[in-house]
Amino acid sequence: MTTTVAILGSTGKLGGWVLEGLLEKKYNVRALCRSPEKLNHYLKKEEWEEEGDTDKNTTTINTENLTVVKGDSVNIESLKEVLQGCQVLISCLGSPSKENPIVEASALSLIKVLKEEEEAFRDVRVIWCSTEGVNDGVKQARKMGCSNGCLPSCNIFGWGFMGFMQYACIVPYAIGQNVWDDMALSEDAFRNKSNANVSSHTVIVRPQIMVPFSEKAAFTEKWREEGGDVISYIVGHPSEKSPIGCFINKKSIAKFFVDAVESKEWDGTTVHLFQGGNK
Ligand SMILES: NC(=O)c1ccc[n+]([C@@H]2O[C@H](COP(=O)([O-])OP(=O)(O)OC[C@H]3O[C@@H](n4cnc5c(N)ncnc54)[C@H](OP(=O)(O)O)[C@@H]3O)[C@@H](O)[C@H]2O)c1
Repeated sequence: MTTTVAILGSTGKLGGWVLEGLLEKKYNVRALCRSPEKLNHYLKKEEWEEEGDTDKNTTTINTENLTVVKGDSVNIESLKEVLQGCQVLISCLGSPSKENPIVEASALSLIKVLKEEEEAFRDVRVIWCSTEGVNDGVKQARKMGCSNGCLPSCNIFGWGFMGFMQYACIVPYAIGQNVWDDMALSEDAFRNKSNANVSSHTVIVRPQIMVPFSEKAAFTEKWREEGGDVISYIVGHPSEKSPIGCFINKKSIAKFFVDAVESKEWDGTTVHLFQGGNK
């Protein structure tokens, strides 16, 4: 039987790579989208081809296994709809703004559906994108050293140079500490003892700082160009020292998500993702 995978956040800059990775592997994919038209270049590929719109029509992937469900990840009914017939759910959700954090609320809705509709969704595995620098990952992330790896960590008062830049400057003053806190709370929701039956088949994924930084929309030519050639990751643990380097590209993170569909190795755990070499 072909595995059916639900995906939240497939129109995002990370989620786009995950969506394509799943389709390349020929999984049945059910994507929950607030704006399904963002996936039109898949669903109406022939139309784009006729129009010669190369910016939108940049995929050669066969999309007949893709079903798009219109809805919101916080909404219980939307989640029930996208989960129909699925064995795995992947979340690549990101909050639209610091004024509108949605990750914890989405986790709570999802957990409610998985618990209350137990008969239908009892065995659904969850692969949940969070971030480094939250919960028991704070210490490790703060110690992040220089980006060029000249020192594993500068280690001044418990901070490395990049750890200080990211977690004392960029997150609180540019991105929004509440966006990070929201992801931490989404982890807590899964790890809450009363949700052990969901948690045991959930993997929480904490990638390092994602690159590229550019905000080029998913599926555009620029997004593809900037995706990079290195597609490899290293799986770590919160208690381990970070490998040298601070960044991981989104294609490598996406590869982990797609690999985790087949492998139950990480179920029930929280993994840290670091950039692997050029394999
Ligand atoms: N930047 C980093 O260094 C870093 C590191 C680790 C983890 N992360 C986290 O990784 C995640 C993904 O990053 P990204 O760059 O791919 O984010 P992104 O491009 O902003 O994508 C966010 C996705 O979430 C969807 N979404 C938002 N609100 C929704 C809702 N209410 N219902 C359904 N879908 C909703 C968006 O859909 P629409 O198309 O409808 O907007 C979009 O597909 C984020 O949580 C980010 O914080 C980032």
